[in-house]
Amino acid sequence: WWNHVFPAPKDPISGVTEAFLADTCPRKINLGVGAYRDDEGKPVVLQCVREAEAKISGCNFLESVFSKVSSKLVEESVKLVYGKDSEVVKEGSYAGIQAISGTGACRLFAEFQRRFYPGSQIYFPDPTWSNHHNIWRDAQVPRRNFHYYDWNAKGLNFSALIDDIKNAPDGSFFLLHPCAHNPTGVDPTEKQWREISYWFKVKNHFPFFDTAYQGFASGDLDQDAQSIRIFLEDGHWIGCAQSFSKNMGLYGHRVGCLSILCADTEKAAAVKSQLEKIARAMYGSPPVHGILLVSSILGDPNIKRLWEKEVKVMVDRIQRMRATLIESLTKLSSSHDWEHIKDQVGMFCYSGLTPEQVNRLRAEFSIYMTRDGRMSMAGVTTGNVSYLANALHEVTKA
Ligand code: LMR
Repeated sequence: WWNHVFPAPKDPISGVTEAFLADTCPRKINLGVGAYRDDEGKPVVLQCVREAEAKISGCNFLESVFSKVSSKLVEESVKLVYGKDSEVVKEGSYAGIQAISGTGACRLFAEFQRRFYPGSQIYFPDPTWSNHHNIWRDAQVPRRNFHYYDWNAKGLNFSALIDDIKNAPDGSFFLLHPCAHNPTGVDPTEKQWREISYWFKVKNHFPFFDTAYQGFASGDLDQDAQSIRIFLEDGHWIGCAQSFSKNMGLYGHRVGCLSILCADTEKAAAVKSQLEKIARAMYGSPPVHGILLVSSILGDPNIKRLWEKEVKVMVDRIQRMRATLIESLTKLSSSHDWEHIKDQVGMFCYSGLTPEQVNRLRAEFSIYMTRDGRMSMAGVTTGNVSYLANALHEVTKA
């Protein structure tokens, strides 16, 4: 048995963590995975999570599986993206289901897409989170790219993006990052989102938003949902995968939500029942501890306010590190253009480093990042920023 099985290639993101953990250099830095760490480089348990934890202590988890905790999570999650006063939320005209974080939500949707729109394709921004490709490939949905990043200008290639929207067959599925685009850190402006939404309407495309970093672009949760709300205003059908791994620091808990807007509550019930059927065969039922935490945070105005403040603290630290990194590179008289580090938003800096330079950083400085040069700014701290600047300067010197 298994003679024909050979090792799978390492995942471009989790493979970086593995290599980092195996490195014994005391100065090593992990800029791989996009999960928040504090200025000591340590994972953070947010105070709002501690308070939620205290609230749910003593809870009977078995009972929770059979109670309404899952619908509570969905109710609170949809308010966060579509707005608590939105018609869809008030009417309940959405199919919502708890998912195993953003990845699980995407996987459920990909499966749903293949079942109910066989032969359809999905368009991804170029580039996108590497796992999007794995997820839709495993669901056997053909993948296409649409233009997104302009590698020369280190910004959005807006005209090519609009052309691709216009040229895609009517009624295509598109995956969009509503804020803090992963990996580039480049988002469309409000005006550009309006134009994108307009062309989606003309072409009857379906927007599927993957929102894994709500709060991380602007520090404000509503502001970071603006793109989705523009589409909502324009009367689109929308799908949305939500993750609480980053903005609540709950990476290991796998808490997420998938929602799909529907014509009315009857259709929503039908769609939901199909999503539940898919989930049932994939993993039975999802874990409850994390969702109890998230629902307790979102459902309690005081804890929710605390969470909003803590999101801002995380975002401010990342901004400070962006600024300090540029300052340090300027002090070293680096002639390389690093301005984009400041302009990009969210957790990542799409550095523009070549795979060779990334390899040198790993081999000579024990600095780890994905091969496309994406740096998770969450791994940069007051203590390691000058070491990082120096290494970046060394590998980019002419
Ligand atoms: C990332 O892009 O690093 C995050 O979305 C975490 C992950 O699981 O890939």
